[in-house]
Amino acid sequence: MNEQRACSIEGRIGFLGAGSIVEAMLAGILKKQLVAPDQICVTNRSNSERLALLAQTYGVRTTHDKWEVARSSDILILAMKPKDSAEALKELAGSVKSSQLVISVIAGVSTSLIGEWLGVDCPIIRTMPNTSSAVGLSATGLAANEFASKEQLALATRLFEAIGTVYTVAEEELDIITGLSGSGPAYIYYLVEAMMGAGATAGLDREMARQLTLQTVLGAAHMLMETREEPALLRKKVTSPGGTTQAGLEVLESYQFQKAVKSAILRATERSREMGAQYR
Ligand SMILES: NC(=O)c1ccc[n+]([C@@H]2O[C@H](COP(=O)([O-])OP(=O)(O)OC[C@H]3O[C@@H](n4cnc5c(N)ncnc54)[C@H](OP(=O)(O)O)[C@@H]3O)[C@@H](O)[C@H]2O)c1
Repeated sequence: MNEQRACSIEGRIGFLGAGSIVEAMLAGILKKQLVAPDQICVTNRSNSERLALLAQTYGVRTTHDKWEVARSSDILILAMKPKDSAEALKELAGSVKSSQLVISVIAGVSTSLIGEWLGVDCPIIRTMPNTSSAVGLSATGLAANEFASKEQLALATRLFEAIGTVYTVAEEELDIITGLSGSGPAYIYYLVEAMMGAGATAGLDREMARQLTLQTVLGAAHMLMETREEPALLRKKVTSPGGTTQAGLEVLESYQFQKAVKSAILRATERSREMGAQYR
């Protein structure tokens, strides 16, 4: 009990945007009691029903006055789509002060551009969570601009630890994080689709193939995390010469599986840089 009180975050937190990442963050930070619902205010562009739902579900305050949210929040969290961000932030120019902490989850938009649009030299922490934040298992990258203090970085880290694990990097490395863990859930879904499909094609009931595949992915992730062994070593340990696993791996190798996965992540990283350049 005392431990929870000791780690609660003070001040007002405003969310500009009320979409899926904001809901994941609300669920995480309220469940961990990092903040109380009455410290939080959420706004969006126009969807009143969405605001009413968040107010009802989480007990947070909502408003259509984004200027009030921008002015009155100690921590302002920017959570709109990249395409909407220039218009949204330019509208708020002059409302944010240098004493406020701005945290952005907007993909691809740099801290310098956010500062330019808001018209202020303030601490900005840019983040790259992934969609597993919805179940509290995001792998989030986080980078601070030159105005953010160590304490502000620690504060942002605690907020994002409420929806998963957090790694602090230099801002340019966020593109790699986007290609690896940002887009990563989709690569795993793609693998799961293929494994399930193969199980069903080979004759298993589709639902059973799905459950077996999911448990296999979950079990392999736990093995990697709990044993801390290198993936190559774990792979070799389960590959008997001439056995079934070796036969399967040889087919993957013939399709250049490792090369395909590496190329996918490098291309996604490059695409993140290209998309970021559009907003510069
Ligand atoms: N979802 C994830 O797991 C995830 C992971 C990593 C990064 N992100 C990033 O997080 C951001 C939000 O993603 P999302 O999935 O939560 O999107 P989303 O569900 O589409 O929500 C976007 C929100 O932005 C609001 N908005 C748009 N223009 C606005 C404005 N001018 N002022 C205030 N609010 C405005 C929208 O309001 P209306 O509905 O009223 O239009 C909506 O509430 C994106 O930049 C995305 O790249 C998300």
